[in-house]
Amino acid sequence: MHIGILTGGGDCPGLNAVIRAVVRKAEKLNYRVTGIRNGWKGILENTTMELNRDSVSGILHRGGTILGTSRTNPYKMPDGEARVKQWFTDNAVDALIAIGGEDTLGVAAKLHLAGLKVIGVPKTIDNDLAGTDFTFGFDTSVNIAMEAIDRLHTTAESHNRIIVAEVMGRHAGWIALYAGLAGGADIILVPEEPFNIDVVCAKLRARHDRGKNFSIVVVSEGAKFETEGDEDGSFVLSSMEKDSFGHVRLGGIGAILATEIERRLGIETRSTVFGHIQRGGSPTAYDRVLGIRYGLHAIELVEAGRFGRMVALQGNKITDIDIADILGKMKYLDPDMYKLADVFTD
Ligand code: F6P
Repeated sequence: MHIGILTGGGDCPGLNAVIRAVVRKAEKLNYRVTGIRNGWKGILENTTMELNRDSVSGILHRGGTILGTSRTNPYKMPDGEARVKQWFTDNAVDALIAIGGEDTLGVAAKLHLAGLKVIGVPKTIDNDLAGTDFTFGFDTSVNIAMEAIDRLHTTAESHNRIIVAEVMGRHAGWIALYAGLAGGADIILVPEEPFNIDVVCAKLRARHDRGKNFSIVVVSEGAKFETEGDEDGSFVLSSMEKDSFGHVRLGGIGAILATEIERRLGIETRSTVFGHIQRGGSPTAYDRVLGIRYGLHAIELVEAGRFGRMVALQGNKITDIDIADILGKMKYLDPDMYKLADVFTD
């Protein structure tokens, strides 16, 4: 058995834990593993590396991915699908493990329908993939953001300021909610619930009238104003350029919000964007263990000949679902979970 493995889309902490687990288990089964460089791009360009026990030694604690990643979509290339199929034949690859988010797994699902033997492993710091309770990378991001919020408290308090912290989270507010709750944020704004700026300012005003001299607002990059902004209320400022999966680059809502809060309340307000710091560096123990469990289950599926599956965490059990089941779906915050934050905001 010859397996190809690739990482696609945005990187996240824990990818190397998956790669290492796949390779170590494959070795026990006498399977050969070829690493594909830079996501689907590596198949189109035939850039690969042989993976064995030595090449995955010492990578468990490292962030990013030793394979590299990209947002290349083979279905946007002329003859993309045929070229991928040809690569399987030319390199005598029997099966592919694709580690990625909805875009990467969407390509994997199409390739499975086209007759290739594919297994998906879900990843995203945003934790918004359907079918699995948690994706690895999320816990690390939350811890990074929480620590940053802790640090904002001391500077905000020293200067009597409001600080708006913009965190990642394109469609769902998982990072904002978890980091905001854990970091003791005073207001948490998420994409799932468009916010009213009057209400936000009234809450901040009430808090400062009660004698507090600082506040921390955590906002997801994908959060939306109830009534302002572009047609769906969101601000898309960083770039209007789209990647090959059609996504524009988000960012900038924190700065807009800070300006508006200062203008309305007359309290000095700053904004800060945590950005890619949330995706870098060493994974937490939780993400390493989740990555290991996902990687081992992926290779068990290969061994069992069960292709077209995505590994998943449901409760505390590792299981697998039809890879096509996650497409076009999104795992949003449970509204009851979001309501928890209300207790701490007024
Ligand atoms: O999907 C994960 C994510 O980190 C999002 O939260 C964010 O919007 C996006 O990737 C940023 O992508 P890039 O690194 O390509 O700018």
